[in-house]
Amino acid sequence: MYDYVPAFPNSEACERNKDPILAVLREVFAGCKRVIEIGSGTGQHAVHFSLQWPELVWQPTEMPAQMPWLRKRVLYEGPVNLRAPLELDVTGDDWPDTRYDGLFTANTLHIMAWPMIEALFARLPQVLRPPSILAIYGPFRFGGNYTSASNAEFDGMLRGRDPASGIRDFEAVDELARAAGLGFVANHAMPANNHILVWMGR
Ligand SMILES: C[S@@+](CC[C@H](N)C(=O)[O-])C[C@H]1O[C@@H](n2cnc3c(N)ncnc32)[C@H](O)[C@@H]1O
Repeated sequence: MYDYVPAFPNSEACERNKDPILAVLREVFAGCKRVIEIGSGTGQHAVHFSLQWPELVWQPTEMPAQMPWLRKRVLYEGPVNLRAPLELDVTGDDWPDTRYDGLFTANTLHIMAWPMIEALFARLPQVLRPPSILAIYGPFRFGGNYTSASNAEFDGMLRGRDPASGIRDFEAVDELARAAGLGFVANHAMPANNHILVWMGR
C-alpha cells in the first residue's frame, strides 16, 4: 500500500463516459487478448477498463508531455493487466513491435491534424493482428452534417483554437480505414452526441 496517493488530473467527461464506453467495448473487443490505446490522456479510461476487465491486457500510450502523470496513475491505480504506458506520437517511429488484437482511441481524431490521423491509420496493418479491430470514440460528422448543434459549436471552437483540428467526417476516416485493410462494421451512438465507430480486418 502507498501512504501517499497524488491527486491526478481528472477529466469529468471521462468519469461520465467510461461506463457507457466499457459496455460497448465488452462487445467490440470480446475475444481480444491485447488492446493498444492511442492518446490515453489522464489514464482514467485505461485504469477503469483494465480494472473491470482483468482478462484483457491494455496498453496505454501517450505523447511525451503527458507521460509523467499517466505513468504515475498507472503505477498507483492500475492492475497487472494494465501495462506501463509507452511514449508514442503517432507520427513518429516509436510504434511497438508487439501486435495487438484491437486498437482503441478516444477523443483524439478531432484534436490531431489530418496528417497525424493519416500516420495513425498507415500504421494499423503493422500494429494489428487478426481480428484487427479498430474502435474510435468521439464526435463525427456523417454525410457532411453535424449530429447536433452543440457539436457544430464545438467544432467552431476547435477550429478557432487550431485550424488543423476539428470534428472529422466519417466518410474520410472510413477511406483511411479501407486503405489499411479494415471494413466498417458498426456505429454505436453514445451519450452527448458521441459515437463509437468500429472497423475490422477484412
Ligand atoms: C482530448 S485528449 C483525449 C484524451 C483521452 N483519450 C480522453 O478521452 O480523455 C487528446 C489526446 O490526443 C493526444 N494526441 C494528440 N496528438 C497526438 C499524436 N500525434 N500522437 C499521439 N497522441 C496524440 C494528446 O496527447 C491527448 O492526450
